[in-house]
Amino acid sequence: MRILIVGAGALGSLFGGLLARAGATVQLYNPSQIEHIDAVRRAGLQIECAGGETLHIRLQATAQAPEIAAADLVGLFVKAHQTAAAMAQIAPKISAEAWVLSLQNGVGMESEILRYLPGERFLRGTTAQGATLLGPGRVRWAGVGPTRLGRWQGLPNAETDQLVALCNRAGLETEFVADIERLLWEKLMVNSVINPLTALFNLPNGAIVNDSELREIAHAVAREALPLARHHGVLSSEPEIIEKIERVACKTAENISSMLQDVRRGQPTEIAYINGAVVREGRRLNIPTPLNLLLVKLVASRSS
Ligand code: PAF
Repeated sequence: MRILIVGAGALGSLFGGLLARAGATVQLYNPSQIEHIDAVRRAGLQIECAGGETLHIRLQATAQAPEIAAADLVGLFVKAHQTAAAMAQIAPKISAEAWVLSLQNGVGMESEILRYLPGERFLRGTTAQGATLLGPGRVRWAGVGPTRLGRWQGLPNAETDQLVALCNRAGLETEFVADIERLLWEKLMVNSVINPLTALFNLPNGAIVNDSELREIAHAVAREALPLARHHGVLSSEPEIIEKIERVACKTAENISSMLQDVRRGQPTEIAYINGAVVREGRRLNIPTPLNLLLVKLVASRSS
């Protein structure tokens, strides 16, 4: 399988590297991480695993003209707010037989992808894998967890089975799910609590549970979004939603959330697709979400 990873930062490079190691022909593409791409091209990708082992993987990488037309799968790993620009650039060259896969955080960028391809070729998913860019060509595999993906429209087929098998061979525990939209909302509930609070207070994910005041705020934010989660058929009670969020916070206690990483780098964050998505859905369903709106405003004021 020929795979193009668009937006190869920490997570994209982790997926690309592991898939290449499992036998796929992978090209990393990132026009804004030139040093990282150069390092991968020169010396390969180094993935530092939790147990201390370092994987050295040789794969193609470019900051300029990626091989779009040849790709059987285009993995979109750009930030949610970069989706429209990335698709406008690459979509005209994507083969009609190729799949586009998005494991992006948040909800709402799907419409920007579906402007260019039918729902049958669009694979949307969530991942609990964690990755941090340590320096050019070096990624820390920061957390291991399930990846779930589904077709936006249509049933699994031989090609999606092949992709799921490849991911599992690569060490990325992956399963195909029928109702991907439900899972996106479940992940959104986790991200809408952990990401803005860790970003605003400059703390690792574990603080959501270990800092008693932050924990109280986290519970209030989760409680506010509960009616929306229920509407989407996930996490039907307060203990359930809190348990889900706290389990992820504990499992990734040492992680610096993607939103805090963005704030630290002075980059725009995905807040509009995370808490912003909660606020938009709340307005649509006539459910007030003032805490989520406050978080949108606070994070936006930090990162712009
Ligand atoms: O965005 C992130 O950082 C991750 O989705 C999560 C699950 C919060 C872990 O850091």
